[in-house]
Amino acid sequence: MNTSFDLTGHVAFVTGASSGLGAHFAQTLADAGAKVVIGARRADRLSDLADRITVQGGMALAVDLDVTDADSIARAVATAEDGLGPISVLVNNAGIPPKDLSLEMDETEWDAVMDTNLKGAWLMAREIGRRMVAHGNGGQIINIASVLGWRTAAKRVQSYAVSKAGMVALTETLALELGRDGIRVNAIGPGYIKTELNTEFLESSYGQRIEKRTALGRFGETSDLDGVLLLLASPAGAYITGAVIAVDGGLTLSTL
Ligand code: NAI
Repeated sequence: MNTSFDLTGHVAFVTGASSGLGAHFAQTLADAGAKVVIGARRADRLSDLADRITVQGGMALAVDLDVTDADSIARAVATAEDGLGPISVLVNNAGIPPKDLSLEMDETEWDAVMDTNLKGAWLMAREIGRRMVAHGNGGQIINIASVLGWRTAAKRVQSYAVSKAGMVALTETLALELGRDGIRVNAIGPGYIKTELNTEFLESSYGQRIEKRTALGRFGETSDLDGVLLLLASPAGAYITGAVIAVDGGLTLSTL
């Protein structure tokens, strides 16, 4: 039986770890025994999270990281491996939300969303993937996509939905390319998950309509993603690669 979710001996790198899902993922991976590298544009915002994990007996290293900048990524990953050893798990979580309708959007917004959500994930996978191949011990790459990557909406999500659809394709192509090196590449597609930043939207009348048409009748909690995250990061998921797993309470089943 291979059902170990234990991550002792692993080093996991979480991007965009200063808030929301990223902070939660880092805590969950640390709770499962991994040493965690937490990256954000301002590492000083990560000190509370790093202290919390350390006080609980874990090990966390905060690094400055801008996923849109290949040099910043190279520096962050080198610092991470110097501090904690070879990285075996990458969680590509950093992402920015959409703002404007297609015909109102300027090129700056389009580029920012693509560079952060899609190109940033590839740059991270390239830097860490090269090192995983060189170390020869395989690894796990987990991309945080969105249900909007395959089941989209009309209002103000266009660039974001395109970036997340790209992330699905990135997951599948990387899985094919890296499988023989023992590197598994998968994606999680969350539905609407409550974080401190989206409370206002989820409580709006539009948000309430979304909640009503979710099969389970509620928005997700960050902890609802723990099972899938640990499955994909750990030996329990040893034969899963190229999968895109929706964690959406049944939202995308609904036609209304
Ligand atoms: P959030 O805004 O709290 O987290 C995003 C993180 O990415 C922030 O810490 C931000 O500082 C960081 N970030 C942004 N640009 C960056 C850059 N250039 N370099 C490094 N870090 C950068 O939002 P949330 O909700 O925690 O989202 C996390 C991920 O989950 C995103 O990729 C988002 O698209 C995805 N997601 C979230 C859902 C939700 O309902 N909360 C649903 C579906 C997907």
